[in-house]
Amino acid sequence: MSRRLVQGGTVVSATGRSRSDVLVDGETIAAVLAPGQADALGIRPAAGGDPTGAGAGGSGDVAVIDATGKYVVPGGVDVHTHMELPFGGTFASDTFETGTTAAAWGGVTTIVDFAVQRTGENVMDGLAAWHAKAAGNCAIDYGFHQIIGGVDDESLKAMTYLVDHEGITSFKLFMAYPGVFYADDGQILRAMQNAGESGAVIMMHAENGIAIDVLVAQALARGETDPKYHAFTRPAEMESEATNRAVQLARVAGNVPLYIVHLSASEALAEVAEARHRGQNVFAETCPQYLYLSIEDQLAQPGFEGAKWVCSTPLRSKHEHHHRDLWKGLRTNELAVVSTDHCPFCMKDQKELGLGNFSAIPNGIGSVEHRMELLYQGVVNHEMTLERWVETCCTTPARLFGLAGKGVIAPGADADILVWDPDGHTSIGYDKKHHMNMDHSAWEGFEVDGKVDTVISRGTVVIEHDTYVGSKGHGKFVKRGLSEYLH
Ligand code: URP
Ligand code: ZN
Ligand code: ZN
Repeated sequence: MSRRLVQGGTVVSATGRSRSDVLVDGETIAAVLAPGQADALGIRPAAGGDPTGAGAGGSGDVAVIDATGKYVVPGGVDVHTHMELPFGGTFASDTFETGTTAAAWGGVTTIVDFAVQRTGENVMDGLAAWHAKAAGNCAIDYGFHQIIGGVDDESLKAMTYLVDHEGITSFKLFMAYPGVFYADDGQILRAMQNAGESGAVIMMHAENGIAIDVLVAQALARGETDPKYHAFTRPAEMESEATNRAVQLARVAGNVPLYIVHLSASEALAEVAEARHRGQNVFAETCPQYLYLSIEDQLAQPGFEGAKWVCSTPLRSKHEHHHRDLWKGLRTNELAVVSTDHCPFCMKDQKELGLGNFSAIPNGIGSVEHRMELLYQGVVNHEMTLERWVETCCTTPARLFGLAGKGVIAPGADADILVWDPDGHTSIGYDKKHHMNMDHSAWEGFEVDGKVDTVISRGTVVIEHDTYVGSKGHGKFVKRGLSEYLH
């Protein structure tokens, strides 16, 4: 097994930073060393400066990655992606191969994707299908949550089985999308009670889908067909009402851990904050699109252009303080995690399905490549600290979702490492930095201070010198444990 020394950088964790060297042995972090300690221990560069570490087997014989002037942080952990998701009559355009490769380009070393059970389907079949899509195709490690699109006796039994045997310890339910994934309040309560018994986390898509469908039908009847009406028919009240309802149901189910996904509105954040202040096990994530993008600047662009930004929950108005409140929520821990909800669709043949009818536009934005970059810009803009960047994008998502050995730089942890160059610069755009399988970038023109320098996945370098040097099949399925926050 090869050994590497990531030398000369500043190691940043959720709790602080220090000038340290990181010794990697095989797939694992062996030690975090004070400056000079490696030398004192006789750990020296491989003869000939072998950059691969492949021949670096003996003691005092390591491949060195020079991290001088750079930050050395845990590889990113994105706990909300949808590779190949069937949605709106098509499939999310990234495969596990293209999506995890793009993730690696963005400094991400673990994703947690959603296996799907739609209404009327079998949970175990859904999980098997997801394993078949991912196995042997991933550039980085991956786990699964399970979408429960049909709560009944059989799927409740399957939930328990998945926790006990399959390393799947979180379940997404939908208060939106009637007829596809939707669960009613009784079904939600039953699933929550089940999770309470097994120790699982319930993830909630909190939007009142029944009322939204009425608003959508009324808008279409008025001839309001452009993409912007997607947001106008999914007002913040529909998100906050559903968030509150989910919180109350989780409370009645016995303070079952509840994680609100893709939170976009100040009003929904207030519901989460109130529940947390009451002592409920309620957590929430937001996504880069809700921190930076808006109805006015993106979704309401002329013609059909806004379709690129049709996602649910929707983008909000930039005049209503959502951005400001979400950044504040990230600082105060009312928002614990930043994920992407990566769900890419091309304009051609996919988003175009909704030409003349916004409700037929497949919902989703592709961002898996850009979360670390966009959130680092939040550090530069003084919206969060460097440590909070690591905490919300790496450490907390790993701990909250039972990814042992991920999201930290510590002896014994997986050697998942991002070397980040704060003096670099990243220009995002379809003809610039863009590796997702999409015919456009939702982040066109975004300029970010800082840059991904080197990415190591379980001891293997996957990105260096602006080149992908990983391989499909390197990424392994990770069986997750129960949430480290609660057990
Ligand atoms: O627009 C979105 N969010 N698409 C993916 C499916 C979901 O609800 O997360
Ligand atoms: Zn959702
Ligand atoms: Zn999603």
